Amino acid sequence: KFGTFFGISSLATVSLAEIGESISSPKLFQLYVHKDKGLNAALIQAAKDAKFDALALTVDTIVSGKRERCLHTGFTSPPRLTPSSAISFATHPGWTLNYLGRERFSLPNLESHVAAGTDAAISVADYFNTMLDQTMDWAMAEQIRSQWGGPFCLKGVMSVEDARRAVDIGATAIMVSNHGGRQLDGSRAPFDQLAEIVDAVGDRIEVICDGGITRGTHVLKALSVGAKACSGGRLYLYALAAGGQRGVERTLANLSAEIERGMKLMGVTRLDQLGRGNLRWR
Ligand SMILES: Cc1cc2nc3c(=O)[nH]c(=O)nc-3n(C[C@H](O)[C@H](O)[C@H](O)COP(=O)(O)O)c2cc1C
Repeated sequence: KFGTFFGISSLATVSLAEIGESISSPKLFQLYVHKDKGLNAALIQAAKDAKFDALALTVDTIVSGKRERCLHTGFTSPPRLTPSSAISFATHPGWTLNYLGRERFSLPNLESHVAAGTDAAISVADYFNTMLDQTMDWAMAEQIRSQWGGPFCLKGVMSVEDARRAVDIGATAIMVSNHGGRQLDGSRAPFDQLAEIVDAVGDRIEVICDGGITRGTHVLKALSVGAKACSGGRLYLYALAAGGQRGVERTLANLSAEIERGMKLMGVTRLDQLGRGNLRWR
């Protein structure tokens, strides 16, 4: 509805084919490199068949970060019945009825290849640590780019050196991202890395600022530094959890209005008028 680029993960709960049939705005598929090469090839082919516009290869997650809150709560997808989750289900009846009344949880893009694609309860950390290929390197990234053959983004670049190598392997774009701060503890914020990366490669590759975006003014700041676009996860996920489709629509409407209002208040009529002069670094 909002005409934004829309991305789904390898671990999405809706199949690439179904998204291809139902969504006409630009679509991005995020690929994790699995140990199972047949699965990687099948995912790339499914994204091509569903006419996805771009592929983003995530490079900051060959293993899971230590997600202590998940370890503490025992969180899995789908949720497992344990004494503490039973209490949680009982005290959130609206959520529980909604969950039980829906189609069963599955990861349709994986289910033809791996048991984790079915409704087996597994933690994200277990999935990453057992399924993903820890030998992923630049040669593999280049091979995936050529297998895909279309607009190609490396997701999870945080240094100038890696940004330069992304240009060398022919990537169209990079997402400056620390995976929402969910992977390497203590990593810098993507926004703080943006200026030096834009200065090094911004004329040769599209730089997307991924993470920490919750306000239109955050978008304006990132574009002022030189990002071509912004992306995010929790921005829409919190809205989805709290208000379903209406929640996401409200968030996107707010974001759009905030961008427009911010531009008017700054006296800016076009995005290309945004520049570093809008910001002061302390
Ligand atoms: C619940 C959740 C699931 C995510 N799953 C994936 C994923 O499967 N693949 C991926 O590349 N990034 C994934 N991410 C990271 C997001 O793509 C994005 O980099 C991050 O959320 C940006 O930070 P933000 O949440 O502050 O916007 C996930 C993030 C969240 C919060």
